[in-house]
Amino acid sequence: MSRATCRLIALIVVAAVGAAWIGSRSYPPLAYPAALLTLAGVYVVGYHVGKRRAARRLARRGGRAEREAASPIVDSFHELYYDSMVFAHTSWLGTPALKCPLDLWVYQEIIHELRPDVIVETGTASGGSARFLASICDLLGHGEIITIDVEERPGRPQHSRITYLQGSSTDPAVLERVRSKTQGRDRVLVLLDSDHRKAHVLSELTAYSELVTPGSYLIVEDTNLGHPARPDFGPGPMEAVVEFLADHPEFANDPSREKHLLTFNPRGYLRRKGGGPKRAAVQWVRSLGPPRRSRG
Ligand SMILES: C[S@@+](CC[C@H](N)C(=O)[O-])C[C@H]1O[C@@H](n2cnc3c(N)ncnc32)[C@H](O)[C@@H]1O
Repeated sequence: MSRATCRLIALIVVAAVGAAWIGSRSYPPLAYPAALLTLAGVYVVGYHVGKRRAARRLARRGGRAEREAASPIVDSFHELYYDSMVFAHTSWLGTPALKCPLDLWVYQEIIHELRPDVIVETGTASGGSARFLASICDLLGHGEIITIDVEERPGRPQHSRITYLQGSSTDPAVLERVRSKTQGRDRVLVLLDSDHRKAHVLSELTAYSELVTPGSYLIVEDTNLGHPARPDFGPGPMEAVVEFLADHPEFANDPSREKHLLTFNPRGYLRRKGGGPKRAAVQWVRSLGPPRRSRG
């Protein structure tokens, strides 16, 4: 029997019981309006509970079925969006941030959930994404950003939470500095957004995955290159992710982070397994909110 049938039967039974009860106990002409009201009330409650459950199910699955069904539409829009190069004219507080805003929204959700002590970003460019991350940390009152780029660019935003490192992200000296800044920190989040060629991303994945704490994320950006954007790109971040995951069972792709359908990081939200009970406990304590003052 389908859920809808079960719900309908439950509604009829509840309405009939309600009508009989009201009819037998009070003024009989009220029985039918009361039954209708009961029916309407139960229907509204049932509808909303069902809708919320469906939304939760969809979020858990990352909307996989819907995504597959809509895939040609999403891919067409993705190519249209990418080819417009609008991401090159997207900014955060006046600084260019080469991002799809839907991904930035997901970053905000991840940061709010994890409250990372340190966020490491490879590929600074103008510093817009680092500035965005710093803004979210400001709102939460926690976290710092280390961002690395081979190039030095004047005019990057200065912010007390941001540390700029110059050099290649895979240079042992740079890695040593990043390690020393992340060592002993409880929650470390990593975003890879530098040289997008497969060999470089794979080297970054190998080096930076060690820094990611259990339960946190290693976000590989622009896995859309060749999939479906820029079909001519050649082996890039997506190919590096596939190879990396084959050798690193401690990481898994989290498709729920692709719930907005359009993402520049398809299969690029890699979550490090573990951190379960501790993370759950931290989230539970946070959900209690700030301590309440007793009255009087
Ligand atoms: C896609 S941009 C970064 C965009 C920036 N995260 C944003 O969202 O605004 C890539 C950057 O990576 C830098 N880059 C290229 N190769 C690198 C390497 N080996 N190590 C560190 N940075 C590198 C480039 O200089 C460039 O600024």
